[in-house]
Amino acid sequence: MGCCRSFCGILVLLLALLIGWLQVACPQPHPTGLIFATVFTIMGYNKPMTEPVPKNLEAAKKHEGERTLTLASGAKMPAIGIGMCCRPTAYHQESVYNTILWYLLQGGRHIDTAEIYGNHVAIGQALKEAAKRGVPREEVFLVTKVWPEDFGYDSTVHAVERMLQDLGVDYIDVVLMHAPRKLAPLLVWHMYMEGSVDEFYNHGCKNHVACRRNTWKAMSELKDQGKIRDLGVSNFQIDQMKELQALKLAPISVHQFQYHPWLPEFQQKVVEFCHANKIAITAYNSLGGFKDKDKALVIEGLKAVGKKHSRSTGQVLLRWALEKNVSVIPGTGNPKHIKVKSFERKNRKTWASTTSL
Ligand SMILES: NC(=O)c1ccc[n+]([C@@H]2O[C@H](COP(=O)([O-])OP(=O)(O)OC[C@H]3O[C@@H](n4cnc5c(N)ncnc54)[C@H](OP(=O)(O)O)[C@@H]3O)[C@@H](O)[C@H]2O)c1
Repeated sequence: MGCCRSFCGILVLLLALLIGWLQVACPQPHPTGLIFATVFTIMGYNKPMTEPVPKNLEAAKKHEGERTLTLASGAKMPAIGIGMCCRPTAYHQESVYNTILWYLLQGGRHIDTAEIYGNHVAIGQALKEAAKRGVPREEVFLVTKVWPEDFGYDSTVHAVERMLQDLGVDYIDVVLMHAPRKLAPLLVWHMYMEGSVDEFYNHGCKNHVACRRNTWKAMSELKDQGKIRDLGVSNFQIDQMKELQALKLAPISVHQFQYHPWLPEFQQKVVEFCHANKIAITAYNSLGGFKDKDKALVIEGLKAVGKKHSRSTGQVLLRWALEKNVSVIPGTGNPKHIKVKSFERKNRKTWASTTSL
């Protein structure tokens, strides 16, 4: 046990040093993103990249009668989006371009990304190409996130301006605070390499609460200027949302977090809080995430319901979330998955959420 703890400590320290070194050596705003990109690319080294879109593929109309979630601004967020993280095709820039172009030309309209995913420029290029081929920007619902390294008033303003420029758009539908605070390895870096435990030294705020509040203030002002339509959070706890609400600035419109049938009790409370406060929920890890995915895909009840409706277990789980009025954003580089909204159907009958798990 002790041995394992020391090993983990050394691993965290090495990771922190690597991140720190990248921060100094690399001119990009988010070297941490390079680490994610490298890890996910190595993990999926044998998976195919997204194939190019045929030049003569015409734009399909956006899906008729699509489920939507109404946000605080009155905007309608399409319930089914595409997630652009955590898989090789989300970091390989040509694949990012191809994936988004396939998605938009085949009627999809909700894109979920983040600055830390490092794919804004390629997404922007695909948006531009799709617009030329008949998919207007106004039909696309674009969601991105401010990474905690950019928290603080000024750095948030700069981050959002950079996002607008990289994505090539003049407004973003939803900007989320990606996580409530910095990741632990970065704190270790501050301690070891800068001899300081002051992780806020470049944020213009004294502690996590002040940093989050200053970020929300900046985002609310950007919303008033029309550069963002709705604001939201990701991976927050109830108290952290209450902190923002107490500012009486823009409302929290969306909360994105891990959501699937095996949520622990404290996360169920977050779900109840969102419902009570009219905060739309977007699910990630709908198939169970790293921890529960293997478990999920072999559950007999899910397999049986999938068989009955000619759907895969993954599709039953995606549908399960939709029936709870939650938006889903599965990632894929597979044009068939991009195209077939196979877990959605025109009829609104519930069949997945009543599955016995
Ligand atoms: N806010 C955060 O902190 C945070 C954290 C993690 C993720 N996210 C967001 O959430 C997104 C999704 O991540 P995730 O972890 O939930 O999922 P994921 O790792 O992207 O996996 C999605 C799974 O769904 C499958 N799939 C996709 N479309 C399908 C379809 N139409 N029918 C059946 N299966 C389908 C994919 O299979 P194939 O690959 O075979 O298509 C894949 O196995 C990310 O891309 C990111 O945008 C946010």
